[in-house]
Amino acid sequence: MMKATIPSIARRAAPDYAETSRRDPAFLSVDGLCKYYTWRSFGGSRPIKSLDGVTLRVAKGEIMGIVGESGCGKSTLAKVVTRLTSATAGQITLDGEDWLAPRGEALRRRRPQVQLVFQDPHGALDPRMTIGTAMAAPMAAHGIGTPADRRDRVLAMLAEVGLDESFHDRLPAQCSGGQLQRVVIGRALLLEPQLLVCDEPTSALDASMRTQILNLLMDLRARRGLTMLMISHDLRVVRYMCDRIAVMYAGQVVELADRDHLFDHPAHPYTRALIASSLLEPGGIDLSRHLREGEVPSPLAMPEGCRFASRCPYAQPDCTALEPALKQAGSRHFVRCRHWNTHAAATMPPRG
Ligand SMILES: Nc1ncnc2c1ncn2[C@@H]1O[C@H](COP(=O)(O)OP(=O)(O)O)[C@@H](O)[C@H]1O
Ligand code: SF4
Ligand SMILES: [Mg+2]
Repeated sequence: MMKATIPSIARRAAPDYAETSRRDPAFLSVDGLCKYYTWRSFGGSRPIKSLDGVTLRVAKGEIMGIVGESGCGKSTLAKVVTRLTSATAGQITLDGEDWLAPRGEALRRRRPQVQLVFQDPHGALDPRMTIGTAMAAPMAAHGIGTPADRRDRVLAMLAEVGLDESFHDRLPAQCSGGQLQRVVIGRALLLEPQLLVCDEPTSALDASMRTQILNLLMDLRARRGLTMLMISHDLRVVRYMCDRIAVMYAGQVVELADRDHLFDHPAHPYTRALIASSLLEPGGIDLSRHLREGEVPSPLAMPEGCRFASRCPYAQPDCTALEPALKQAGSRHFVRCRHWNTHAAATMPPRG
């Protein structure tokens, strides 16, 4: 006689982010995005897992913050989303269309839709080219307007980004870092992108310039309905200007929530350590006192289980066995930790 099976009394697992967020219409959808570079040596080659299954939804007009320590994959995400480098796996949809499919001329025509602003405005501008010529060049390359139209558009854009007409004929060496970052932002906007990806846009600037550039970006979003990915290693930057925030660790999103919810109810131990550190050390983030002394895993040898286990003060024996998924922790809150429910109420323990 067959034994009666005992009905499972296990709680139904929370749905994961990919499943839940698929229901919401999104302007930018990133699904299971992977970018593996290749490390070669005499003995063979191994993948460097810079991005490993990133899934994100960004609504039209939203500013999504991407935050995490150096090396977690933020710039790689920016480069794949802007099509500066290819994806190894996964999908990106922009305004309902496959954004990874266009190649050659089709890609060239669509490139203006997604523009990148990165950290170093000096590196983004030719030192021998005047600001006016540099700002008009991408429009000329895409066949937008006549030379006279382009000049008018550049002058109007200079005003929009808070620079007077005299900047038109200046060389980059005659401008400050903050002024050059305004130029770079203006140059990107002249192509009328729908998505602006900003990779550490204020990291090279001093504190007073930093706030001005963040305010400018927020004004531009309000005026133009731009959708933005705002990438920063600095929690204060994403807290200042983002609607939602995705926290990245070792090539993955480990927590994603509305900005205030994330700061009021952080659920992942890594997010909690980041927040605790940024509040305690205004000059910079020193996570050491909130985490175990373990190393960040190498993208050449990612562990099987939770990638944060080597530093997690709450790690349990099962954490190293299976990789946690990004699961729902609240109506718009997702966390990649199998024990978030038990440790979220506890205070962050001291190191050790
Ligand atoms: N072109 C590349 N070739 C090999 N490895 C790379 C390359 N670009 C980035 N990486 C590696 O990918 C990981 C993520 O880098 P990156 O995206 O620049 O991180 P972040 O911007 O968060 O500091 C790092 O380990 C980095 O060394
Ligand atoms: S799954 Fe385990 S090791 Fe990973 S963050 Fe959660 S408690 Fe820490
Ligand atoms: Mg970077």
